[in-house]
Amino acid sequence: MKDYIVRNRAVFLSQDDIPDQWYNIQADLPEPLPPPLDPATKKPMSPEPLFRIFPRELVMQEVSRERFVKIPEEVLEAYRLIPRPTPLIRAKRLEQYLNTPARIYFKWEGVSPAGSHKPNTAIAQAYYNKKEGVERLCTETGAGQWGSALSMACALFGLKCTVYMVAASYRQKPGRRIMMETWGAEVYSSPSMRTKFGRSLLEKDPDDPGSLGIAISEALEDVLGDEKAKYALGSVLNHVLMHQTVIGLEAKKQFEMIDEQPDVIAGNIGGGSNYSGFCLPFMADKLKGKSDADFVACESRAIPHTTRGIYTYDFGDTAGMTPLLKMLTIGRNYKTPPIHAGGLRYHGMAPIISYLIHKGYMRSVAYSQTEVFEAARIFAQTEGIISAPESAHEIKFVIDEARRCKQTGEKKVIAFNHSGHGLLDLAGYEAFLRGKLEDWEPAEIKVEKLVSD
Ligand SMILES: Cc1ncc(COP(=O)(O)O)c(C=O)c1O
Repeated sequence: MKDYIVRNRAVFLSQDDIPDQWYNIQADLPEPLPPPLDPATKKPMSPEPLFRIFPRELVMQEVSRERFVKIPEEVLEAYRLIPRPTPLIRAKRLEQYLNTPARIYFKWEGVSPAGSHKPNTAIAQAYYNKKEGVERLCTETGAGQWGSALSMACALFGLKCTVYMVAASYRQKPGRRIMMETWGAEVYSSPSMRTKFGRSLLEKDPDDPGSLGIAISEALEDVLGDEKAKYALGSVLNHVLMHQTVIGLEAKKQFEMIDEQPDVIAGNIGGGSNYSGFCLPFMADKLKGKSDADFVACESRAIPHTTRGIYTYDFGDTAGMTPLLKMLTIGRNYKTPPIHAGGLRYHGMAPIISYLIHKGYMRSVAYSQTEVFEAARIFAQTEGIISAPESAHEIKFVIDEARRCKQTGEKKVIAFNHSGHGLLDLAGYEAFLRGKLEDWEPAEIKVEKLVSD
């Protein structure tokens, strides 16, 4: 098969090759993750209180330390529909443009109807909620990709869906709202007048641009007022990251088919789900000492949660309604600037990714939006794909790394997860092309320590 990739550009698997199990890295971490804490007592939380907001099976997946979890047939059926497996593509034209000896591959998740990786967990979450008799799901969305994915999954499984969309994105991306409404969801600009928390923020600032942390608080408040509703989160939590591992499990098979091994494994991090999905099956080998690949998480310099944040317990939302999670955070009250990569506007980071960075198994880098849009322009003009602004972050890293390989002569295999397309993010591209993009960088980061470590 080695010459396969010389003749072809994309590596396809058959639908029989969709993994039938998700991979749970909690089984292979050198030590258990620090547990979520009850904010009132600061003591580890038992799973029971979470049954009010999530279906039982997802709560059990959250705390499971089983290495593999079986994917239900109904979920596999929906994975075939979107369709999985997604291709692994060699970016040959980008390599030629950069004149690099590196070989660049990307897993292309933008082929789903919602345009990103998000349906991989939206489908699973909708399925388990339906199975347990839930009638309505509430959620938040930043860029609109997660809200779109959940709206689509709710339509497929016959559930109602309510989405709190971060106000900055609601204004920037009307197309996303229309997609969600077409799939049957109700969409509100967040902060909204529908919740007590939203009203309190709008009283202070009617133009509050919102944030993922605020939208999460609103969705939770909505759920707590309706027994038939539950909450769905598009990132951060262990079970969400686990559902995304279909990406990396497929990619491993695809690399085996062409007899390649990635030396560098990159992806962007908003809450950590797409990068985890891609990299954790490879990280399993690093944890077992079978690989020393370089794992690189790429974030926005405007929201430097892992490059400038601290590893401590923080709330997952802004109002302080969630359990405390041990993570890299820049503080739940950090005012996230309205960058175009709306999916990266979150103050914290998935506990799994935070742990891996903190322990040195993975590193992270940060970029400003002008430089990432420049990288996305190069990618569009060489590979043809207009990328989501979130994905443009790892493209920036990959271009820099491939240029570095040109200087050193290293023939590295660089792999990245291309999390989504940017066809509904054109306002960002227009601002870039007209020279009107603004870059932000916080002068100082203040994180309130809620628990003494
Ligand atoms: C296309 C795309 N990529 C990346 C992200 C970042 O989120 P996560 O880190 O959970 O993958 C988002 C979030 O909305 C997204 O829409």
